[in-house]
Parts: sequence; C-alpha cells; structure tokens
Amino acid sequence: MSTSLPRMSSSPPSSPSYTPLESPTPSLASLPVRQVPGSYGLPLIGPLWDRLDYFWFSGPESFLRKRMDKYKSSVFRTNIPPSFPFFIKTNPKMIAVLDVKAFKSLFDMEVVEKRDVLIGDYMPSTSFTGNMRVGVYLDPSEPKHSQACIISSSIYVKEFCTDILKRGSKQWVPELLTNLDTMWNTIEKEVTEKGSSSIFIPLLKAMFRFLTKAIVGADPLPSLGENAFVSFVLWIALQLLPTQSINILQPLEEIFLHSFSYPSFLVQPGYQKLYNFIKTQGQDVVQRGVSEFGLSEDEAIHNLLFVLGFNAFGGFSVFLPFLLGNLGNDQTGLQARLREEVRSKIDPTQPISFDSVSQLDLVQSFVYESLRFQPPVPAQFARARKDFVLYSHDAGFPIKKGELLFGYQPLAMRDAKVFDEPERFVADRFTEGKGGRGLLEYLYWSNGPQTGSPSSANKQCVAKDHVVFTACVIVADLFRRYDSFGGTVGSITAVEKAK
Ligand code: HEM
Repeated sequence: MSTSLPRMSSSPPSSPSYTPLESPTPSLASLPVRQVPGSYGLPLIGPLWDRLDYFWFSGPESFLRKRMDKYKSSVFRTNIPPSFPFFIKTNPKMIAVLDVKAFKSLFDMEVVEKRDVLIGDYMPSTSFTGNMRVGVYLDPSEPKHSQACIISSSIYVKEFCTDILKRGSKQWVPELLTNLDTMWNTIEKEVTEKGSSSIFIPLLKAMFRFLTKAIVGADPLPSLGENAFVSFVLWIALQLLPTQSINILQPLEEIFLHSFSYPSFLVQPGYQKLYNFIKTQGQDVVQRGVSEFGLSEDEAIHNLLFVLGFNAFGGFSVFLPFLLGNLGNDQTGLQARLREEVRSKIDPTQPISFDSVSQLDLVQSFVYESLRFQPPVPAQFARARKDFVLYSHDAGFPIKKGELLFGYQPLAMRDAKVFDEPERFVADRFTEGKGGRGLLEYLYWSNGPQTGSPSSANKQCVAKDHVVFTACVIVADLFRRYDSFGGTVGSITAVEKAK
C-alpha cells in the first residue's frame, strides 16, 4: 500500500510501499467485551491527588505504567491534569489508551471527534490566536461558515497548509542547508573555544529562519532580528504550561505553573510583531489563503502563525535535540554505519536533496526509530462521537458518546506485542534490509500511521513526510561535514571534521 500523494522531485517521497505485517492480536470477534477498569476517585480529592501524582510524585510515564499494571489493562479510566482547584471548567476524567491497537481508535473519524481537544479538555484562550479557533482545533466535520464568521472549515485550513508545503518545497532543502551551515559554524566555534556548545539557541535560530523562509516565503532576519524566535517560544510555553511536566522545582511548579493559565497579553507584543511581519512580507502566501481557500486575511495570518510557530517550529524544536543528542551519545558504532551509508550512497559533488536521502535505508530507519522511541508530541486526545466499542489487544471496551480518550504515545510506541525489545533503541529496526518497513503501519508520531495519508478527512500532520525527510537531510549533512561528533541531548561536546 502506498499513499496517494504525488511524487515531486523537490517534495519528500511519500510513505514507502511495504508488506503489511500479520496482525499482532486475535480477531475482534474472539475478544471479550468488558467495562473499562479504573476510577476517578473521590470528587475534588481524586483529581487533585492524581494531578500531583502525574506531575510530581510519579511523573506522567510512571503514573500511567503503575495504573496499567494495577488494572492489568492498557485501557483504563484516570484523571489527567490540568484539574482542580482552579481549572474548574476543565474535566480531567479520561480513558487512557496505551497500546498500539487501542490507540488506533484515535484516528478513526467515524467514532471520534477532534473539536478543541488538541491538548485535552483544556483549551488555551483563543486570545492567543487572534480570537479564533485555528485549524488544529477544528474537527473535520465542522462546516464552512460565512466570511464574517470566525470559524472556518478545517478542510480549507488543512488544504491551505498542504498547499503551503507544496509551494515551499523548492526552497525547503536549500534553506535548511543554508541555515544548518550557520548553525554548525556557530557550534563548532564554541566547541573549539569552550570545549562544548549548547545546541538549543543555534538550533532554534536556524529552525526559525529556515521554516519562516520556506513557509512564509520571507526572511525574518532583516526586520525582526535574530532573536525573534523567542516570541514563539514564550507564546507556545504560555499555552502549554498547565499541561506540561518539567519537574525540576517542585512544589513551585505545581503552585505557579500548573494551577492557573497565564493570560495572552503577556506575549501579545511579540505575537503582534510576527503578525505584522507575515501581513506585510508574506503577502503572496496570505493572498493565496484568501483567494484559493476562502479564508479571510486575518484567518490566513493567524493560521500561518500557528502552523509556523506551534506545529513546525515547536515540533522540530522538541524533536531535533533528541535526534542529535541520541546520536552524539551513541556508543554502538552507529555513527560510523550512518557515515558510511551517507558517503557511499550520496554523490559528494551534488547538493543533498529529498531524493538523495530517500536511498538511505539506515538513516531513514534511525529517524523513524527516534520518532518511535521519543515521540515529540507525547499525548493525543479525541472525544467519542458516538457510543462504540474500543478494542485493545486483549479486550473490547464500551465507550460512551462524549467520553474523552487520552492516547500516550511513549507507551503505545513501546508496545511489546508489536515492537521487539521495545525499551531498546534499535537504529535499524525499520530498515528495508531487515524487513522492518512493515512496522511503519504502527508508527504514530504524526497522529496517524506513518503509512497513512494526511487529508482533510483526518487530523494527521500535513508534514508527516517533510518531517522524516528533513531529519534525514540533517543527518546526511552532518556526516558530510563531520567524521564524528559527541554530545548529549542539548549540548555538543566534540566535532571531528570530515577528512
Ligand atoms: C517535528 C515536527 C512536527 C511534529 C512532531 C508534528 C506533530 C504533529 C501532530 C502530533 C499533529 C496532530 C495533533 C493532534 O491533532 O492531536 C500535527 C498536526 C498538524 N501539523 Fe504537524 N508536526 C510537525 C511539523 C509540522 C510542520 C513542519 C508543519 C507544517 C509546515 C505541520 C503542520 C501541521 C498541521 C497543519 C497539523 C493539523 C492537521 C489537522 O488539523 O488536520 N507540522 N502535527
């Protein structure tokens, strides 16, 4: 099976063809149907206790693992924060779905809806996004409203995003390589002078400029300066704070970060500058949103800001430090194997392209495994559109219309019924050589299987292939530049230039 996206030389190849694996579990008819185990505890005390346990005493992963063990089920009822005492309008009662099979229900738009559930029952104020619900909060079924209405159909917004990526494809890799060049020069200089370099600032600067140029078609540096990315960082942070566990300064974190939401006016000046930049310098792309996708100018700009800042910049900022840190830290000889593949398969006289990295079996597998091992967006939510039976590997569970499902990727992606040695990072797990491509059906980081096709009928990330192949270009470029490098998540400690 392959996706229906057309193959274009400057676009990333769409999902590879593969032989589907045999289903890891018995047919649905043979599974028992039982009530979802678990409880929400006493009113007020239950949600509060679970909140403290989730963020502080256990941390999200161990909080969920403990309950999975206790109920002997990968599907169970639990409170997921934010919750009591100050988030009174947010309902923490959810059904956790933690195996690959159960998680798949989150992608079935027949039985679930995705209206306003990007980060759970809690939704940041629309004042962060120009007082409108941008595309990512819309369910595919929401109708197209008149121009005067602030709610526009998710179909139009999604098609607009797909179009942006398609049109920006020619600039994508060249802009990426130019900005990687600046980034590595900065890091290299600092490693030489100080013995190590933090990766965050150079990486965020590079990603911000590359993505803005590729998506908006304009260079932010001359008018916004090199630190404009900080506006996005703060804007994203304020929206996500009540849902994120940092767990470094408890109980202050519980008191100041998880107890209430911060108002958008704190980040409004920075957001407004970005808005003005897109309005004046991204005219071409904004006008396409207006004339070809029926959005108002304001809708086009706020949606562009969300896709650029939250989805693209936010996503890469979480994913890439892990990808590079994991590689820099490797003691298994993986760097040598990747280097060998890059240098033997890519013509050194030609610039790296999406086409050239599509020949790199191990590099692609390494990227897929990184997305499996540490999915950049750990939690996905969906609300039951109707009563239905949700199946895990072991049983069916009746779900009532309106109940909220909470899928936690880091656990689903370590499902031992699907992935051998799930707790181990196996760089060649997904290689064609090893017959691992069939596993892509179960790789869900993009809110859908890696073999799926993002469309206006689902909520899968439009950049599903761009993300994978962009990461492959980054790895290929790294091994053209260096023989080896050392580092951890967040810092580079050594680089050895290619001889
Ligand atoms: C490493 C980078 C990225 C990651 C980890 C990521 C992840 C995701 C995830 C998990 C979702 C689904 C959210 C949900 O509904 O639960 C999503 C949706 C989306 N992503 Fe990405 N993404 C990344 C990069 C990008 C880029 C580069 C773009 C566009 C330039 C993009 C555009 C979108 C859009 C428009 C949606 C909403 C789809 C819809 O509403 O149907 N993403 N992304």
